[in-house]
Amino acid sequence: MIHIEIQTPDDWHLHFRDGDMLNETVSATARCFKRAIVMPNLVPPVTNAKMVEEYRQRILDARPEGSDFEPLMTLYLTNETTSEDIIAAKQAGTVAAKLYPAGATTNSDAAVKSLDALFPIFGEMQNQGMLLLIHGEVTDNHIDIFDREKEFIDRNLTRIVSAFPELKIVFEHITTKDAVDFVVAANDNVAATITPQHLLLNRNDLLVGGVRPHNYCLPVLKRNIHQQALREIVATGNKKFFLGTDSAPHEKNKKESACGCAGCYSAWSAIELYTQVFDELGALDKLEGFASHHGADFYGLPRNEGTITLVKEDWTIPEQIILSNGNPIVPFFAGQNCNWKLKV
Ligand code: NCD
Ligand code: ZN
Repeated sequence: MIHIEIQTPDDWHLHFRDGDMLNETVSATARCFKRAIVMPNLVPPVTNAKMVEEYRQRILDARPEGSDFEPLMTLYLTNETTSEDIIAAKQAGTVAAKLYPAGATTNSDAAVKSLDALFPIFGEMQNQGMLLLIHGEVTDNHIDIFDREKEFIDRNLTRIVSAFPELKIVFEHITTKDAVDFVVAANDNVAATITPQHLLLNRNDLLVGGVRPHNYCLPVLKRNIHQQALREIVATGNKKFFLGTDSAPHEKNKKESACGCAGCYSAWSAIELYTQVFDELGALDKLEGFASHHGADFYGLPRNEGTITLVKEDWTIPEQIILSNGNPIVPFFAGQNCNWKLKV
């Protein structure tokens, strides 16, 4: 039997949601990841230290029996965020703050409308050693949705990086060759996460033969040359790129809708699908760096102890998951084959 063993991995970007949903999402992630960077785009968003601490406790309470899973918490930036908020959040153990341009994605309406007004806050984060996580898309109506990431780099990211050379910045869930090139060329305080869907799919998988709402996420899937660039960079083992699933559940009726939500719920298959991609690329030896080393090193956290084992074995990703409220979620890659399986 073909198998590989890697040091226990972490997920550097995901959405757990809240309430009853936590029993589902925390278990799914804790089955293989030791830590995860938890996104703060709840309703209402997680905008201060008290909310961070309370949310962290709800996640800890939702862990399966005996789990030592550790949530790494983030603060949601708005134009009302103050330096005091940053200092208090840091003292409460918050590792990073998340920049959503207002309107860019799910639950981002309350987020940042004026980026420049936030520069003093970035300065405070740099002083405090708090990372800045960026959803890098502009939101102007006249900018084509497929160009919004590149436009954000040209208009905003370049300026932020040069103004704050000591601020650690993660360009989240990158989707384009432009983003790859930018991160490669930037200083060592700039890194990026990459999702399974952006490695596995391109926009044809969203639109050819009918609209596929379960492949709809933001930033939206791009053309195949961009998918190719993401695959090529992870195959090199470059330490600026690491695993962030962006696992983002929405109930089935919210995805299969006239105005469907963005987000792929990948937690039950992400580590397996990443392994499949690295195998296809002939780069299985680079999986451990991507999944278990580069993120921890960039965040300045210790690498995990322990290992997980993946076995080369076919299985079918379930068509649906039923939540405790009886409503279904369609997981990412539902009904499709995956040829690597986590050994439990
Ligand atoms: C995320 C969500 O649903 O919260 N959706 C998504 O398509 N990725 C938000 C985000 O990360 O953009
Ligand atoms: Zn996300």
